[in-house]
Amino acid sequence: MIDQIYKIAFIGAGNMASALINGLISNGYPSAGIIVSDPNEDAKNSLSERHQIQCTNDNKSAVHYADVVILAVKPQILKEVALELSKVIQMQTLVVSIAAGVPVNALQRWFSNNIPIVRSMPNTPAMLGAGATGMYANRHVTADQCLIVEHIFNTVGYSCWLESEKDIDSVTAVSGSAPAYFFLIFEIMERAAKDFGLSPTAAKNLILQTAKGSVAMALNSDSEVSELRRQVTSPGGTTEKAIATLHAGNLNRLVYQAMKAALDRAQELSEQYGQ
Ligand SMILES: NC(=O)c1ccc[n+]([C@@H]2O[C@H](COP(=O)([O-])OP(=O)(O)OC[C@H]3O[C@@H](n4cnc5c(N)ncnc54)[C@H](OP(=O)(O)O)[C@@H]3O)[C@@H](O)[C@H]2O)c1
Repeated sequence: MIDQIYKIAFIGAGNMASALINGLISNGYPSAGIIVSDPNEDAKNSLSERHQIQCTNDNKSAVHYADVVILAVKPQILKEVALELSKVIQMQTLVVSIAAGVPVNALQRWFSNNIPIVRSMPNTPAMLGAGATGMYANRHVTADQCLIVEHIFNTVGYSCWLESEKDIDSVTAVSGSAPAYFFLIFEIMERAAKDFGLSPTAAKNLILQTAKGSVAMALNSDSEVSELRRQVTSPGGTTEKAIATLHAGNLNRLVYQAMKAALDRAQELSEQYGQ
């Protein structure tokens, strides 16, 4: 927890900004410490009604007010937004980008080489306070600013610092895209459960509750997940048969290849912005 209140400006009031604002306010951050700028009236109204935070259409005035600026617009308009803000931003203002695929060197080009910048990769469960975020700071970010960023992302789940910016691409493949991997597995299991005769409701609830329970077990245990798997796999039993079938179909290789494809694509997207 940080003991001082910093003024935080969100540029963009969409899904991810709402998730972070919900997280901050539900963890006791005062609404007076937050301003949001977005041309979209509906997005702003919904946030100001829920949290009584200050809203504006003027990105530059929001940045002028803030110690921390969170860039929460789509990557394709980030350059335009950054160039506009670069005219008014103070050199000590911390810029935090959540935009997928936009490297720090591009942000430094648009703002200034000397500005403190954190690049982060959150994921959609942040909307329920259960996100996972990787964060990378350039060399101008101070230790106190790191604590602020950690505080912000910890209000919506787990966060970790990365030593190298290229690790952001790994985080994209490991947690950024991963909610969809799990949803796909749930879809496949639901189809099989219905095929075995269960009602759609029972199929869905049994699978989701089992996923939730398995995650809770893994989070609350000192054992590695491989050990937990062994503990529920009795020799000659049903689970052993299922696991053997998954190994025979080379699930290991398939999951590795899928994550590697996400990693390669994340690297390609970052390269668009040049070195
Ligand atoms: N959603 C995810 O899972 C996820 C995960 C990791 C990172 N991210 C990153 O988070 C960022 C935001 O994603 P999101 O899903 O929250 O997007 P979103 O819901 O579309 O929100 C973006 C908001 O920015 C507004 N906007 C457009 N132009 C603007 C401008 N010039 N100045 C200020 N605001 C402007 C948009 O208004 P209009 O709707 O009127 O255009 C919209 O309200 C993206 O860069 C994305 O890569 C998202």
